[in-house]
Amino acid sequence: MERKQIKIGLMGLGTVGGGVWQLLQMNRESIAAKTGLDFEIAKVAVRDLGRKRAVPAERLTDRPEDLYEDPEIQVIVGVLGRPDEGRHLLAAMNAGKHVVTANKAAVAADYEALREAAERNKVLFRYEASVAGGIPILHAIEQSLQGNEYQELMGILNGTTNYILTHMTEEGADYADVLKKAQELGFAEPDPTADVEGIDAANKLSILLSLVFGARVLPKDIPTEGISRISGADIAAAKEQGCKIKLIARAAKTDKGLEYSVRPTLLPKEHPLAGVNNEFNAVFLKGNAVDELMFYGRGAGALPTASAVWGDLIEVGKEIAKGAAYDLVVAGGPAEA
Ligand code: NDP
Ligand code: HSE
Repeated sequence: MERKQIKIGLMGLGTVGGGVWQLLQMNRESIAAKTGLDFEIAKVAVRDLGRKRAVPAERLTDRPEDLYEDPEIQVIVGVLGRPDEGRHLLAAMNAGKHVVTANKAAVAADYEALREAAERNKVLFRYEASVAGGIPILHAIEQSLQGNEYQELMGILNGTTNYILTHMTEEGADYADVLKKAQELGFAEPDPTADVEGIDAANKLSILLSLVFGARVLPKDIPTEGISRISGADIAAAKEQGCKIKLIARAAKTDKGLEYSVRPTLLPKEHPLAGVNNEFNAVFLKGNAVDELMFYGRGAGALPTASAVWGDLIEVGKEIAKGAAYDLVVAGGPAEA
């Protein structure tokens, strides 16, 4: 059977973009055998064209626009991690490209505009990797759990801060040293302020609030505190009380309405979220039918995040092959603001 070719433009070849490229080298044949689709990463945008890369030089450009101006490219993957990435994602949709992204800052900030552009242009917009890395939490909420209403959501949504807190707790490691290590491992944002001040977790909570509670809350309106002021003494005091400090994103329906926050929280060491270590994330959900659910997996890193990006890419590829792409945009998105 002839395989249908799907051409991808990859905006960014850092930790996540590199993982997206690597996963295709590892699994191209098995993906093609399962789906009948032959994916090709046709062009890749980077900032520094002088650096040696795994990608052949003729596929590289330093203009993200080259990807969505190419008539042969059908899907754009947005993993530049730039604050203005939403602008490129919108331009790509306006050029008729389907869009997959891991950039939660862009999704949380430009959500309505991105969704409106996807509907207007009849293209797909998927962002599974933007929340909790490799954990397929958004698909689970949008699909398998659609029949529920929710009371509560609680999670560890940032790998960098969880990695830092784990090493400060287990080894008494120094905050600055572990942050440096998390950056070297590729877990941290290009500017790690977003991680350590809780902004990245607030971006992810904003996306979850849309999907879980149908509530549009901008990240800036989520009460947020990070871990930059947590000291070794705070961690020792927590241990004395049989607790661990974790950066917890939480939302719950209360008598006063929907409440939400991101803040360092003392958890008894027997609490399921207290056992989530290093760059792992976890999301606890309580639905009125399913009751309690817990999702666990790697929340950051090249291949775990690429796994989520490829889940979206393959879904988009299948819809392109069926010629039914628009149905997925309408059916798959979160509630309106
Ligand atoms: P990196 O900083 O590792 O990579 C960014 C890439 O984008 C680099 O290849 C860089 O080029 C390229 N780039 C940046 N600006 C430009 C520009 N103006 N023109 C062309 N290319 C550009 O970021 P990450 O891969 O870590 O993160 C990417 C996105 O994915 C972020 O939004 C992040 O929040 C999200 N994410 C990250 C995860 C992780 O584990 N790191 C997990 C889940 C989501 P060059 O290589 O030349 O510097
Ligand atoms: N910087 C983010 C984190 C990447 O540490 O969780 C994954 O979204």
